[in-house]
Parts: sequence; structure tokens; C-alpha cells
Amino acid sequence: MIQTKENKMKGIILAGGSGSRLYPITKIYSKQLTLIYDKPLIYYPLSILMLGGIRELLIVSNEETIPLYEKLFGDGSQIGLSIEYVVQAAPNGIAEAFILGEKFIGDESVTLILGDNIFYGDLSFFYNALERQIGATIFGYQVSDPERYGIVEFNENGKAVSIEEKPAKPKSQFAVPGLYIFDNKVVGISKNLTPSARGELEITDVNRQYMEMDELHVEKISRGVAWLDTGTPEALLQASNFFGVIEDRQGLKVACIEEIALYKEFIDKQQFEKLVYSIPNSLYRDYLDKILNELDEQSIKTL
Ligand code: TTP
Repeated sequence: MIQTKENKMKGIILAGGSGSRLYPITKIYSKQLTLIYDKPLIYYPLSILMLGGIRELLIVSNEETIPLYEKLFGDGSQIGLSIEYVVQAAPNGIAEAFILGEKFIGDESVTLILGDNIFYGDLSFFYNALERQIGATIFGYQVSDPERYGIVEFNENGKAVSIEEKPAKPKSQFAVPGLYIFDNKVVGISKNLTPSARGELEITDVNRQYMEMDELHVEKISRGVAWLDTGTPEALLQASNFFGVIEDRQGLKVACIEEIALYKEFIDKQQFEKLVYSIPNSLYRDYLDKILNELDEQSIKTL
């Protein structure tokens, strides 16, 4: 069992966007439903929220794609989650998620993950940040090409000092991945934003406001963690190869949401069994079947 408390924090997966860099597939199909090795891309960010103990989720996407997510996950109860859905009419910016999600968020804090962001490795950077009650936490991931990202500079106390979008002269090597944790003030802040020159409600503007209040924490992600970007065909192929190698080598699946639900005790053995039997014959089911058999063996051993 992973050592994270289940928390009341709400989770949002932002899974709309135009995906123009993946044209032509995104002419008909959502980027976050494309396959990363053996499962849809969105399983990876979803699994991160689940591992953080977040069970109340909102998926934000466009009108055409929401029914597909509903088909994939339903209300989430089969994996011990509660999943709601809301339409984002156009890609009006990441911060719009907090306005669309106002009712869902209620009085709680909220973690937002972009539907195309993948993290793999020791997630203690995330678990630590979830313990924080006040303010906002963003993460810093060292990259070789900081000109391509939102870049954060921070002091020895982990407080952000500057944030810049795709700077020509970066002040640090630390890019800000698409994973953000906010206290409840984020709703009010987002509602008061004005769209940027590109017409979007910018998450960077939200972060800047927290920075001005001296409430923007930066949690450094260590070098052993992979943060994979999946915006381009090459990046998708790289991510598929990466997880193909790991899964094949270990015989363990990454981001297998049914397994995580069991592991986190969101569902019990009976619910897991029912879930496994509902899956058509496939390698994916074989994997879950094996886990089920191992559970049976364990309970026989304890008799
Ligand atoms: P981006 O990578 O900025 O954009 P995109 O996915 O539309 O792709 P492209 O640049 O090729 O056109 O978006 C990051 C993630 O956030 C992605 O999962 C889409 C999502 N997103 C929304 O759902 N709504 C939005 O308004 C924005 C800006 C992004």
C-alpha cells in the first residue's frame, strides 16, 4: 500500500485542446485518447491523481470528446472514483478549468493535471506537495532546452521568484510541468483574469498572482523521474517505447487504473473481480487476471 492519505482534494484532468501538432489524427480524434503503448494517454495522468489519493475528479474536454471519456470511465465508480465531466467550448486556456469547475471544486483545494502529461518514477515530490494546506504548488523539472517551456526561478526556500513563458534568456533550467496544486483561492483568481494576447486565460497569470502573495511553492522533481511530453508524433513514439520497455522488462503495467484502484483500496477484492470479468479477453485482462489469482493465493495462505 502506498503511503499517501486519501484526501478531500479535488482533481481536474484538462483533456481538450486542439492538438494541432498531431494533425491529421486530431482532426477526428482527441490527443488524450491516442495509444501510449497499451492504453490511452489519459490513463497516465489519471493514475497520478489516483496515486495521490484523489478520488473526486472532473474531466474537462470539448463537446465531441466528452462522450468518449464517458464511455471509457462512466461515473468512475467501478474503480472507486467519482468522475464528472464538463465541456470546454473552445481551448480558452488552462485557467478556464477552474471557472468551469467552480461548482465541482466547492470549498476544497484542487489539483489540475494536463491530460497529456506523463510522470513516471518516485512520486514523492507530488505526495509532499499534497500535504501543503495553503497557497499553490508548481513543480520544477530540469530540462536541456528551457527556451521551449514555462520556466520558474526559485530561492533556497522553494519559493518562486520569477516565471516566464518560453524565455529567450532563461533564468533557470527548470520547466513547469502540467501539474498544479491550488488552494481554494484559485477559483476567484481565475474568474478575475483577463485573456492574454493569444486569447487564453493563462495558468502562468494564476501562478504569478500566488507568487505576488508569496504563496507559490516550487517542488523540485528529482532526476530519477521521467516527465514525458506527448504533444508531437515523435514524443508519442518515444513514450510508447519507454513504457513498452519497462512493462516488458518487469511484467508490471504502468498506469493500470484497475490495479491502482485495488492497490489504493478504492475497491475491494470482490469489486476487482467483477471488473476483471467485465473486460474482454485481452492481454490487459490477462494481466488483471494474474493479479486476481495472486490475491486468491494470498487469501488461501492466510486461511
Ligand atoms: P497544449 O499543448 O498547449 O495544446 P494542444 O494539446 O491543443 O496541442 P497543440 O499545441 O498541438 O495544438 O495543451 C496542453 C494540454 O492542455 C492538452 O492536454 C490540451 C489541454 N488544454 C485544454 O484542454 N484546454 C485549453 O484551453 C488548453 C490551452 C489546453
